[in-house]
Amino acid sequence: MIDSTEVRRRLADDALPELLVHLGFRDDDAVDAVAAATTVRRRPSELAQVARFASLLAAGVGRFRPDEAPDPWEQLPSDREDLALLALLASVPEVRAEHARRRIPDEVSWRSLSDLGQQVSVNRRTHGRFGLDTYGWMRTAWSGGLMWLGRLQMVPKPTTTGWVLDTHIPATGPLTPESVDDSFARAVTFFRRHFPDCPATAFACTSWLLDPTLAEVLPESSNLARFQRRWTLVGQGYQADESVLYFVFNRRADPEREIDHEALTPTSRLQEVVLERWRSGQHWSVWSGTAPLPQVD
Ligand SMILES: CC(C)(COP(=O)(O)OP(=O)(O)OC[C@H]1O[C@@H](n2cnc3c(N)ncnc32)[C@H](O)[C@@H]1OP(=O)(O)O)[C@@H](O)C(=O)NCCC(=O)NCCS
Repeated sequence: MIDSTEVRRRLADDALPELLVHLGFRDDDAVDAVAAATTVRRRPSELAQVARFASLLAAGVGRFRPDEAPDPWEQLPSDREDLALLALLASVPEVRAEHARRRIPDEVSWRSLSDLGQQVSVNRRTHGRFGLDTYGWMRTAWSGGLMWLGRLQMVPKPTTTGWVLDTHIPATGPLTPESVDDSFARAVTFFRRHFPDCPATAFACTSWLLDPTLAEVLPESSNLARFQRRWTLVGQGYQADESVLYFVFNRRADPEREIDHEALTPTSRLQEVVLERWRSGQHWSVWSGTAPLPQVD
């Protein structure tokens, strides 16, 4: 149980800046995070809310089956993603303890948790301000299972037939085939060693990157087309224009309105083909696929 006193201590001015560096916060985001913590430390009822959310996050640590972990955001007031962000910061010691229990090297532990800083920086790129609109996703990282190994992130995921390594692609530069090979190879050894209780038999991925029509409009030699060829699709895709708008144009769709295609100016080949499809009245989809684990000694 993390109480208000403990949150106040963990988010104090003398503790927070160093933590934010470990978590990959950019300087401007770190300044805003410290300011948000200072404000909430002075408001007992908000501090109590952060303590409650942080305790729920801590209760989800080590639980990779979604139905086993409580949803910390069920009672998050709307427009208060700052409280979610502070709860994530306040529950870092519990996630770090889980990493330590699994003997995950410090460097990998912090790199994996630095997904938070990355998400906050994407938030600024998307909305032009400090925040964390992906607090829902952060539960996955805070389960203690998300490992950022080289270019890719993976997390053990239970399926009806056993465990897979669910693969995520952070927006940190090109997705070269070599970087993917490297991450895949590292993941096999790493998860075998540190997650023997989740014996994975394949990689899995659910993403707009697997929309098979993407390969039809991008060169065969592009990183995206080559990434896609690794995966065997499972089931059918589902329409996900909002996801593509977010990952390709760094914009959030307004649920009340259609996407305004005319307001988007393409600056890359991918953006051009995405827009062309929308302007012709068609859509983009998210698909799921699996890829075999490479043989490693
Ligand atoms: C996945 C990702 C790294 C691939 O980028 P990449 O390695 O540059 O891909 P390619 O080399 O195949 O790109 C082909 C073209 O599309 C462009 N492109 C690729 N991804 C782009 C993106 N997300 N936004 C805008 N343009 C993009 C490239 O600039 C290139 O255009 P150009 O030929 O005009 O230079 C990139 O799309 C990305 O960072 N995405 C955000 C994270 C994400 O979507 N994760 C999955 C979440 S489910």
